Amino acid sequence: MIFVTGGAGFIGANFVMDWLRQNDEHIVNIDALTYAGNLESLSSLQGDTRHIFVKGDIGDTTLISKLLEKHQPRAVLNFAAESHVDRSIHGPEAFVQTNVVGTFHLLESVRTYWDKLKEGSKTNFRFLHVSTDEVYGSLTKDEPAFSETHRYEPNSPYSASKAASDHLVRSYHHTYGLPVLTTNCSNNYGPYHFPEKLIPLVIVNALAGKILPIYGDGQQIRDWLFVTDHCSAIRRVLEAGTLGETYNVGGWNEKANLDIVHTVCALLDELRPQQDGNKYCKQIAFVADRPGHDQRYAIDAQKIERELGWKPAETFETGIRKTVQWYLDNQEWVTNVQSGAYREWVEKNYTV
Ligand code: NAD
Ligand code: TYD
Repeated sequence: MIFVTGGAGFIGANFVMDWLRQNDEHIVNIDALTYAGNLESLSSLQGDTRHIFVKGDIGDTTLISKLLEKHQPRAVLNFAAESHVDRSIHGPEAFVQTNVVGTFHLLESVRTYWDKLKEGSKTNFRFLHVSTDEVYGSLTKDEPAFSETHRYEPNSPYSASKAASDHLVRSYHHTYGLPVLTTNCSNNYGPYHFPEKLIPLVIVNALAGKILPIYGDGQQIRDWLFVTDHCSAIRRVLEAGTLGETYNVGGWNEKANLDIVHTVCALLDELRPQQDGNKYCKQIAFVADRPGHDQRYAIDAQKIERELGWKPAETFETGIRKTVQWYLDNQEWVTNVQSGAYREWVEKNYTV
């Protein structure tokens, strides 16, 4: 039995489904179901007794401690977070609350549980913290990619709150001996991605005939990894990672935002051509830049490749095609996540 937090979000839901496709080890999935949490993403697991969903907050020590005592997991994987940079600019408090304070409370609950485990279970227990490359800050065009020893230089309230949580996780290993592992991954894309992030937003807006908003000049660079490759990296680190270590996970796939948007548009032109013959890229619109916009992220994934033998299975070309096709095939999922709260967000973010 393992615990997953934030398993109704984009990466967490993909992880839960992927895990249960690979083996029968049960999962307790604890998610607060914020705007980003969506049980519909897990509908394929309805009636599957290997998956137990609990609506709850990682900061609720009473609930988490009760669940830990009851289910006796061999690992806790922490995906739960506020995850959107733009939202962190408009309202940083929730980020401090969940990413910093919530992770702290979760660590405390887990430490209390772990302290009481018998010797074998105690040695084998793992706390795996899912983090981001954004904690390292921004690179110039020519700087080498982020390695695990790159200094932390977070620039947004989101990345600062994730950096703080990474430090807390690290300290629980050094101070209390809690068997922790941390992964720092680049930008993910794929099915079940909430359409406030660049790739799903562009797909959804293109199909709706809306503008495709590019912040600034669109020359900012991100490294993109297909979500199931992130999931396989997490499984591998859980299985064989060295305690207390951090592992950078990336796709060796740096692309400028504008190029990403053009790629998505070209795929849509091929897979869902517009009846009037117009190209989707005509909908591209340059809008105000994000404040403090990081110029470039790039991941040096040599450590996880060398030490744990992990490699991504998808190239960007295969992954982005699958992603666009998934959104075309799952329009109902999209419609259902575009709730009132989502519409309010779009109005707030794109009308300033
Ligand atoms: P997401 O926003 O899609 O999902 C987050 C999930 O956490 C949601 O289901 C939400 O309901 C839940 N949640 C939020 N606050 C909670 C709380 N206090 N208690 C319990 N559950 C809570 O995010 P994601 O993109 O799936 O990211 C998952 C993790 O991976 C995050 O920690 C994020 O920092 C990290 N990460 C994301 C990316 C990316 O590209 N999306 C890349 C690297 C790392
Ligand atoms: P995003 O998907 O929000 O991920 P992150 O900020 O964590 O990297 O954004 C990816 C890149 O795309 C980032 O450089 C900001 C940019 N972007 C736009 O140009 N327009 C948009 O509407 C969004 C949401 C993002």
